[in-house]
Amino acid sequence: MSDNIAVNLQNGVLSLRLDRPAKKNALNGAAYGALSDQLLRAGEDREVRAVLISAEGPDFCAGNDIMEFPAMAAHKGAPEDMPVFRFLKALTFFAKPLVAAVQGQAVGIGTTMLLHCDQVWLGPDARLSLPFVRLGLVPEAGSSLLLRQRIGHVRAFDWLTSGRVIDAETALGWGLANGICDGETLGDKAQAAADRLTQLSPQAVVHTKALMRNPDQVWQHILREGAIFRQQLASPEAQAAFAAFASRG
Ligand code: COA
Repeated sequence: MSDNIAVNLQNGVLSLRLDRPAKKNALNGAAYGALSDQLLRAGEDREVRAVLISAEGPDFCAGNDIMEFPAMAAHKGAPEDMPVFRFLKALTFFAKPLVAAVQGQAVGIGTTMLLHCDQVWLGPDARLSLPFVRLGLVPEAGSSLLLRQRIGHVRAFDWLTSGRVIDAETALGWGLANGICDGETLGDKAQAAADRLTQLSPQAVVHTKALMRNPDQVWQHILREGAIFRQQLASPEAQAAFAAFASRG
């Protein structure tokens, strides 16, 4: 699919499947655009009761498409004009339940988007990493706020600065996921979880989510992070990291 997202609506569950396995489902502008459009439409569509985010291939998502960082650094307009920020805004303010199924690598935004999901199911091979600081960048998607709230400052700071990879058991132990399913059943388990959400009172579910999240605060934090992230894209450390990735043999 040209925008790298496969979409399917069935029995009240909108499935958004990252579909660029040859590039480890790295998210480019087209993918962010499609995800934003789908979330905005799903928010309005009474038929949609839950959204399931999953991915094709052995890995969930290798993060932002590194080859597109230079264009992001050169962007002079408002953040909301950038596909990645459109996506983050749509995700932050999405009022209905979000369920994710994660196998293999989940890097950068592949992990931070999970902090906006209401249920996260992991394959036993899931590997979550936040390499921002190692790349000369800073956390995004509200993760410097949401992660601290979720796992506490000490663990969040260590994870964000070390860039280390955490496995599924660790993520579960830290409260970042609902459960670990074997690779064969991951998709079915996440689908069943999303299906169950569609059987509940839609308004009660939406109100419950709204009571538990603070999208206005998170969005302001995302804009703060984003301003520094964009500055850091031009830093020598980030430039060197991008050049090294581009010239890999
Ligand atoms: N942006 C663009 N392309 C990416 C990518 C990314 N974030 N991550 C992987 N790819 C591409 C690779 O360039 C490669 O393309 P090619 O086959 O045309 O050369 C392909 O996806 C497969 O990646 P590869 O690195 O060979 O797979 P791997 O299994 O050895 O490693 C990762 C997987 C995810 C560990 C590794 O690809 C990686 O570290 N990617 C970068 C992650 C990152 O730093 N993201 C930004 C976070 S802010």
